[in-house]
Amino acid sequence: MPANKRDTWASRLGIIMAVAGSAIGLGNFLRFPAKAASNGGGAFMIPYLVALLFLGLPLMWVEWTLGRYGGGFEHGTAPGIFHSLRRKNRFIKYFGIIGIFGPLVIFVYYTFIESWTLAYGFFSISGKLTSLADQQGMQQFLSGFQGAESNNYFSSVFPAYVFFICTFAINMWVLYHGIKGGIERICRIAVPVLFVCAIILMTRVLLLGAPNPQKPSWSIANGFGFLWNPDFNALKSGKVWIEAAGQIFFTLSVGIGVILTYASYLSKGDDVTLSGLSATSLNETAEVILGGSIIIPAAFVFFGPDNIRSIAASGTFNLGFVTMPLITNQLPFPKLFGFIWFLLLFLAGVTSSISLGQPAVAFIEDEFDIDRKKAVVIFGSVTFVLCHFPVFMLKHGVVDELDFWGGTFFLVVFAAIEVILFAWVFGIDNAWDEMHRGADLRVPKVYKFIIKYVTPLFLLVIISIWMWQEWLSVIVMKSVSAADKPYVLGTRIVLISILALLAMAVKIAWRRRDLKGKTDAA
Ligand code: PFF
Repeated sequence: MPANKRDTWASRLGIIMAVAGSAIGLGNFLRFPAKAASNGGGAFMIPYLVALLFLGLPLMWVEWTLGRYGGGFEHGTAPGIFHSLRRKNRFIKYFGIIGIFGPLVIFVYYTFIESWTLAYGFFSISGKLTSLADQQGMQQFLSGFQGAESNNYFSSVFPAYVFFICTFAINMWVLYHGIKGGIERICRIAVPVLFVCAIILMTRVLLLGAPNPQKPSWSIANGFGFLWNPDFNALKSGKVWIEAAGQIFFTLSVGIGVILTYASYLSKGDDVTLSGLSATSLNETAEVILGGSIIIPAAFVFFGPDNIRSIAASGTFNLGFVTMPLITNQLPFPKLFGFIWFLLLFLAGVTSSISLGQPAVAFIEDEFDIDRKKAVVIFGSVTFVLCHFPVFMLKHGVVDELDFWGGTFFLVVFAAIEVILFAWVFGIDNAWDEMHRGADLRVPKVYKFIIKYVTPLFLLVIISIWMWQEWLSVIVMKSVSAADKPYVLGTRIVLISILALLAMAVKIAWRRRDLKGKTDAA
């Protein structure tokens, strides 16, 4: 037997922090409040909670269990893990390529957006942001920075490119140092620090009261009322349910392959049930309590009930990079609070993007016997080239396109595949026993039923509704402007090529393995 060369976590707290770090990201502080505000407010929490209990939490346990199981066979990514479930089946491993593809695609645009938070952290301390007094100025500054237009703030995308390179380098540096030396070390510091930043901001927001005596109704209490008062009518719309499910996937980082990879570095007898639940709870606290108490209530106080709806609907980027700096500019110590906000986003972002990079690195290491450092160099070279698409073509809809396939569509598809393989191919009784090996928490029996029937059915219904309503218009690029069509088409061709290359890589890896098996046996 070859000695097990795979890296491991140094501690249980370490992997919980790493999974929580992956889950807690820009999605918690920007995407969640925007979604809740525009999909029924407090009523959004009903589909959200349903999705958490029937999709998010079961998938979390499924991924922790499958990951640990595959790690026992020295496989850290979905192709190998799926193969270990049913060795006789030659095709099953090909489903697993989505578990490398999805994270890679998200990584390619997520690191670029993360780099804006680094840049804006600098613009906060340097006083640049405090000099921008109104919405229009802040908006122009952002689009100039993104390279969407050249204006008196920025004449090119070059400054953004510099910050992108720094962010990319930080990510590579962490991955280069491995699981316990890089990812675990960073997350053990970054996750607590980001909680502290969020708690400071939340406390500051709670203390706002009603700062404008002329407008007593523009109060923090009414701000919370705006976000949380339920509009039950919203629940009649199918879209609200799908949005809630999408948010649960995105925020928990499940259904994409990254938690599989993290869990593959556990040992056979390590607990997965309590750890999975702990990471989920940390994420939900960060999302619902902290994420829900910062930006929307504060925006209500400063912009009032008439503007809040359009602000909430103005999109994730505007909320984070236009609305929030305008808010911190109104506070005493604007530079400090601006900095804390962007530091929070940056730490949340880095601990997520490294988790998106690790599956591809693990695939190269595990399936091609290439050492980690070389694997990171290969991964870094490929993704560095790919990142140029979002950096230079943001305004042509490339980021939206990558987000749709990587961060929405394939997420749901992969989740359906893994839960079906777990409950039906591996077999729910086997799966249940495997999940409870070394467990510190007995999962309520009803989850056996949920994982076998409810979660797969829920996912298949979501996929079918989507196919029914949107398939054709997405394929023919109905909502894409004529000018952007070539870019979107180009992005799709690149994505299909990546899928094809990954399928080839899997084929080659298994052929090598078969040959090696024969020579070892001889
Ligand atoms: N969970 C992260 C967020 O809320 O921002 C985003 C994310 C990270 C999604 C890792 C998917 C993933 F695999």
